[in-house]
Amino acid sequence: MQRLARLLLLITTATLVLPASTAGTTQNDKTVLILGGGVAGIIAARTLAEQKVTNFLIVEARDELGGRMHSMEFGAPGRTSVIELGANWIQGTQEGTGPANPIYTLAQKYGLKAVESDFYESVETYDETGKVDYLKTLNDAVDAYTDLTVVGGGRVPTQQVDTTCRTGYSLIGVKPQTPAEKVVEYYVDWEYAQTPEQTSWIASSWANNFTYDVDQGGFSDSNLLSIDQRGFKYLIQSEAASFLQPSQVLLNATVTDIAYSSDAVVVTLANGSKISADYAISTFSVGVLQHDDVAFEPTLPLWKQEAIQSMTMATYTKLFLQFDENFWFDTQFALYADKVRGRYPVWQSLDLDGFLPGSGIIFATVTGDYSEAIESLTNAQIQTELLSVLSAMFPNTTIPTPTAFFFPRWFSDPLYRGSYSNWPASFVSPHHLNLRANLGRLWFSGEAMSQRYFGFLHGAYFEGMDAGQRVAQCVLSGGLQCDDLPFVESIPNSSPYVP
Ligand SMILES: Cc1cc2nc3c(=O)[nH]c(=O)nc-3n(C[C@H](O)[C@H](O)[C@H](O)COP(=O)(O)OP(=O)(O)OC[C@H]3O[C@@H](n4cnc5c(N)ncnc54)[C@H](O)[C@@H]3O)c2cc1C
Ligand SMILES: *[C@@H]1O[C@H](CO)[C@@H](O)[C@H](O)[C@H]1NC(C)=O
Ligand SMILES: *[C@@H]1O[C@H](CO)[C@@H](O)[C@H](O)[C@H]1NC(C)=O
Ligand SMILES: *[C@@H]1O[C@H](CO)[C@@H](O)[C@H](O)[C@H]1NC(C)=O
Ligand SMILES: *[C@@H]1O[C@H](CO)[C@@H](O)[C@H](O)[C@H]1NC(C)=O
Repeated sequence: MQRLARLLLLITTATLVLPASTAGTTQNDKTVLILGGGVAGIIAARTLAEQKVTNFLIVEARDELGGRMHSMEFGAPGRTSVIELGANWIQGTQEGTGPANPIYTLAQKYGLKAVESDFYESVETYDETGKVDYLKTLNDAVDAYTDLTVVGGGRVPTQQVDTTCRTGYSLIGVKPQTPAEKVVEYYVDWEYAQTPEQTSWIASSWANNFTYDVDQGGFSDSNLLSIDQRGFKYLIQSEAASFLQPSQVLLNATVTDIAYSSDAVVVTLANGSKISADYAISTFSVGVLQHDDVAFEPTLPLWKQEAIQSMTMATYTKLFLQFDENFWFDTQFALYADKVRGRYPVWQSLDLDGFLPGSGIIFATVTGDYSEAIESLTNAQIQTELLSVLSAMFPNTTIPTPTAFFFPRWFSDPLYRGSYSNWPASFVSPHHLNLRANLGRLWFSGEAMSQRYFGFLHGAYFEGMDAGQRVAQCVLSGGLQCDDLPFVESIPNSSPYVP
């Protein structure tokens, strides 16, 4: 690690890709283009505006701002509610006067209606035979997960190479076998939207600690679920409206090409028109970058491509059903233990006092490979599967025909290509530096660039602030004092493989 640090220092002081020539040599349309109008883009814009850099333009493909904060009206005609297809929770709030999750601060500012999720007390457990009590097994899984993050932390000072959460669980003697043991394990780490086999032990422990563990600098261990009928997006759209001028936003504009040079960044839109700027901040998801939905000119350097392709874009899918009447559980959550791990394992009721009583809405969640797989099935096929799971959970109930059904296909969507990033064990710290690093005038932001909070809304927020700050400094110093981010040309093994 120390050797690597020295290596880093050498490289970053010696080489700078495409040093930005001083501003003013060419006349560009805009000072800064912000590519994508999600949380990171909006907060980057706000940061620029605060620094009196106002000649910027947010370019967004959709017809509204908010990105993965995406609300939708759902239900039979005359009986609809606003549901959240994307982000739904404020994860970690604030304890006392400790550090606050900035999304929580926005929620307070805009009076967001949200309810605390009670994952471990307000939950019932089911399997393929109906209701079965395995709450004790669930408690064991919660303890096992805490052990996993503690032992994972112990590995950092010893500078061992990272391994997967599965290796970690096995090393601490946790080896789930039964459907119940598997579903409770799923329930404590479904947030990564991938299996323990696919997730970094160290990075996921960090992600957990820095958000939820107050002793480790986290906000708090509470999760607030937005049930605001203005939509969760209301808070970020209101924040945007508080400072943005209409001339600073271009909606319905899909970026197809980004050409970057020492003088400018020139962006081409789907209709062929071009916009040039002194700087650009891409906030596109790492999934979008991975799928070549946007072409870069010149091609991104290999170290950048390796970083982009090495982070994972995971998928988290909520499947919403509405019925005439509530026939299910009175708790917030229910677990369903299928023989197949990850098959419709978590169910949430919104038709509940304090939530959306009378709405008739219940939703299931699937993640990871399962999410990707079901996106190629038809809606009718998936609805049939969901109803058969409900039949198994409630053997004495004739499951009625739903009055509405919807689920978003995040993985197939060319504007997202998944839900949020997850850090795999093969993604090492220098990869992360390279993912974040700017290429001269072209900067990268968004949730995946956050080392501490990747995946989360607050990760997108902090990365938007950071990119906005750095680009503002570039602009205000006339390109002379850019706080360029470091990168590593090639990433060595800690010790080479010798055949
Ligand atoms: C299903 C789901 C559940 C989630 N749950 C939570 C949660 O409960 N709590 C939490 O904290 N986080 C959650 N997240 C994660 C959170 O939503 C994201 O981390 C965050 O919104 C990302 O913001 P961003 O600005 O980085 O990216 P985005 O919101 O993706 O912003 C990028 C923008 O770029 C636009 N774009 C993409 N391609 C182009 C193009 N070619 N041209 C022009 N525009 C383009 C997109 O439309 C988008 O608006 C969830 C996400 C999903 C999908
Ligand atoms: C964007 O497109 C939608 C749908 O085509 C349209 O209704 C809306 O008016 C457009 N918005 C802008 C700002 O162009
Ligand atoms: C996470 O927090 C626990 C308990 O506070 C700590 O023991 C552990 O080292 C931390 N893990 C990491 C990876 O930092
Ligand atoms: C292309 O779309 C953008 C954004 O909607 C619009 O401002 C521009 O005028 C369009 N250009 C052409 C050539 O149609
Ligand atoms: C379902 O009905 C059977 C037979 O009447 C009964 O034994 C069983 O307890 C019922 N199960 C539930 C979950 O109500």
